[in-house]
Amino acid sequence: MTPLINIDFVSTDLASVAAHQGKLSVLMEPGGAVPQSLKRLNTLTKGALKRLGESKVFEKLEPGQAHQLLFPAGIAADALQVVKLARRPDQATARKAGAAMAAFQGDSDLIVLADSNPRAADIAYGLLLRGYNFDAHKTGDKEAPGSVRIMASKPDAALEAFAPMQAVAEGVFFTRDLVNEPANILTTEEFARRLSEMQAIGLKVTVLDEPALAKLGMGALLGVGMGSASPSKVVVMEWQGGSKGAAPFALIGKGVVFDTGGISLKPALGMEEMTMDMGGAGVVSGVMRALARRKAKANVVGIVGLVENMPDGKAQRPGDVVTSMKGDTIEVINTDAEGRLVLADILWYAQEKFKPAGMINLATLTGAMVIALGHENAGVFSNDDALADAFLKSARFEDEGAWRLPMGKAYDKLIKSRIADMKNVGGRPAGAITAAQFLKRFVKDEVPWIHLDIAGVALLSEDSDLAPKGATGWGVRALDRLIRNRHEPG
Ligand code: BES
Ligand code: MN
Ligand code: ZN
Repeated sequence: MTPLINIDFVSTDLASVAAHQGKLSVLMEPGGAVPQSLKRLNTLTKGALKRLGESKVFEKLEPGQAHQLLFPAGIAADALQVVKLARRPDQATARKAGAAMAAFQGDSDLIVLADSNPRAADIAYGLLLRGYNFDAHKTGDKEAPGSVRIMASKPDAALEAFAPMQAVAEGVFFTRDLVNEPANILTTEEFARRLSEMQAIGLKVTVLDEPALAKLGMGALLGVGMGSASPSKVVVMEWQGGSKGAAPFALIGKGVVFDTGGISLKPALGMEEMTMDMGGAGVVSGVMRALARRKAKANVVGIVGLVENMPDGKAQRPGDVVTSMKGDTIEVINTDAEGRLVLADILWYAQEKFKPAGMINLATLTGAMVIALGHENAGVFSNDDALADAFLKSARFEDEGAWRLPMGKAYDKLIKSRIADMKNVGGRPAGAITAAQFLKRFVKDEVPWIHLDIAGVALLSEDSDLAPKGATGWGVRALDRLIRNRHEPG
């Protein structure tokens, strides 16, 4: 896995700051006054901090943004970064400040002077998340990442606050690595192998192979993988950190390791992006890793359906009728609407096997979702207002965009089939909603459930606040937060 950069919290030591040969980040409040803790550094640099603080350049920075001075006089550092940040910043802005430091750090060793800022841990979290770099397939010199030392007035308290963040960051990195990985490497088998490795950190991992899935009656899921040389698999990850016997919360993920569309083949342009079609499974896996790493006091089961959607002589055809584990039959009008077929069976399996207290599925399910909300928000569909509100609150707290869309019986007429119980597409109008209505057929009314369509947010072509371009790991933080709020009071 892409390693997390090492971050240490230490007490402030101005002598070693002045002698530090790498890079140096300091914080200045909006207004630009040189704080008491930076007076010495300002003197050493012959007033550079004061002049910057009084400049238009500094005035124009948004909170969390930074300006850097190269080869500053009077100190040994190669570059001095001044980050605009309030004395008591909100969480999101502190994380953005940390992200600005990650961009500044490069391969150098970095010292951050956080002084008495109460958000030192959040600054470190932003630095860690934005510092992610997927270079598994780059040959040539790979610079060892630099170290980070954060100087704070209460380093022990900062480290204590940072520990769970580091655990969640490891989950985010795990998700990002899975999503960034190309499909010739991350086959269904390799995916299952990487998940099985998590037994070493305390998860119970079970892999169900094709004969086992056939025995369970998962005809909808198995139909999708028929054209692939990679065998379909369902992987179950269990974390038992809560009270014994308490019903688990279930997380369910679409894991299409590559989506060609199948016989309903996608156009060539942009098809390479469909390596991310296992994004839902990636997030579920990352959350399970985070829970295990921070030893969450909750019972959670993660279930992912790993398949590859390929055209082939053995592939499923448009017009085929498949029987789901639930028993309902589905007419496969379009083999490219495969995610809902995978989810139908694992949603049902989750309920039959685990009787979950609640259930959230994640999937890069529809292009229609991207048209509706773009890349800023994932779509939230739910049969339960309380659970939906709790999730939206967690997502807002973690600054991960999420927006609820409606569901309703009236949409069901769009997925009526002439010859089976339902068909797998509802046409272009409300394409993201008809997909959600389809999934709802496989959710028992009494089970609180959310469907998250992450097609627009799992992978970005531009850098975002806390991630470089590529896989974002969207949802790992929000779901970890939700589980904390629901199951781990105090
Ligand atoms: N994996 C795609 C959805 C997708 C599109 C994800 C763009 C990420 C970015 C999904 O399997 C799919 O192909 N959906 C079809 C459904 C249609 C045939 C009803 C779509 O959205 O076009
Ligand atoms: Mn598809
Ligand atoms: Zn797909």
